[in-house]
Amino acid sequence: MTKAKTIDGKAFAEKLRKKITAQTAIMKEKHNVIPGLAVILIGEDPASQVYVRNKGKQTIEAGMNSYEFKMPPTTTQKKLIAKIKQLNKDKTVHGILVQLPLPKSIDERTIINAIAPEKDVDGFHVINVGKLATSQDDGMVPCTPLGCMVLIKDTMGNLTGKHAIVIGRSNIVGKPMAQLLLRENCTVTMAHSRTHDLEAECRRADIVVSAVGVEEIVRGEWIKPGAVVIDVGINRVQLSDGSYKLSGDVCFEEVAKVARAITPVPGGVGPMTIACLLGNTLKAACLQNGVEVPEV
Ligand SMILES: NC(=O)c1ccc[n+]([C@@H]2O[C@H](COP(=O)([O-])OP(=O)(O)OC[C@H]3O[C@@H](n4cnc5c(N)ncnc54)[C@H](OP(=O)(O)O)[C@@H]3O)[C@@H](O)[C@H]2O)c1
Repeated sequence: MTKAKTIDGKAFAEKLRKKITAQTAIMKEKHNVIPGLAVILIGEDPASQVYVRNKGKQTIEAGMNSYEFKMPPTTTQKKLIAKIKQLNKDKTVHGILVQLPLPKSIDERTIINAIAPEKDVDGFHVINVGKLATSQDDGMVPCTPLGCMVLIKDTMGNLTGKHAIVIGRSNIVGKPMAQLLLRENCTVTMAHSRTHDLEAECRRADIVVSAVGVEEIVRGEWIKPGAVVIDVGINRVQLSDGSYKLSGDVCFEEVAKVARAITPVPGGVGPMTIACLLGNTLKAACLQNGVEVPEV
């Protein structure tokens, strides 16, 4: 049996970042604008610190300005909103991202909606959610599903009439992913923890996107031969020697025997997320300065 193509998200993200870097240089030279991304981190969660550090590093590498604001875990909602309001007004900042999760004392939805929609590079603001749902192209699209979509289209080309299943219905991955697939004329099934016979639903799909957070839930026999499988899941699994490895939602070994193409974990969807964040920052800077958004 043929083995599926492994979709190299790391290499793809690198290519994408090079194109964004080139467009950022043009933006600077032609329009005297340097895209700026502000990231706010509350508290000292180690995983969040790593994400924020990586985002900052890649923002600078792309020729953009990176602004990091570290606030203590005791920060009040009022203080955080005051910071966001200040950044909303700052003309050198085109994108604002508040690293999630937030401390329990702060309401996530209130914070997300305090960010000016045109600076909401995560695409989580209710205005941007509405723009995606109503196919308005000037909104910000969440980075992870956007990255998945780029990989799917690069692998499959025209998606019209394809049957896609999205497993997981979160606001940050599952729901926007389904909207993007619908926009490409797919017939979309949305599955979640209450879905009856997930296996049978999956077996009908030409495209499977899994964003669940359960290690290897998607098995080889769930997959229609020739389907494209995108694994968003990131699960930290402890090995017998006490060390940890990252594992996806998809049983790679089994699925690779049936699928046409599959993303690995790590090295699949993950690297595309930051690349798309940089793409959104460039798009935001263009829109805020009346510059046509370049194709990247
Ligand atoms: N690669 C990246 O850059 C990236 C970015 C974001 C997230 N992730 C990863 O993607 C995964 C999902 O993230 P998320 O934020 O979307 O998670 P989430 O908010 O926890 O949502 C998980 C979804 O999976 C569904 N689900 C849970 N158990 C299920 C089961 N047994 N069968 C079917 N559906 C099930 C849940 O259904 P209900 O709604 O019914 O509860 C929910 O809709 C996580 O592993 C996360 O770490 C990766």
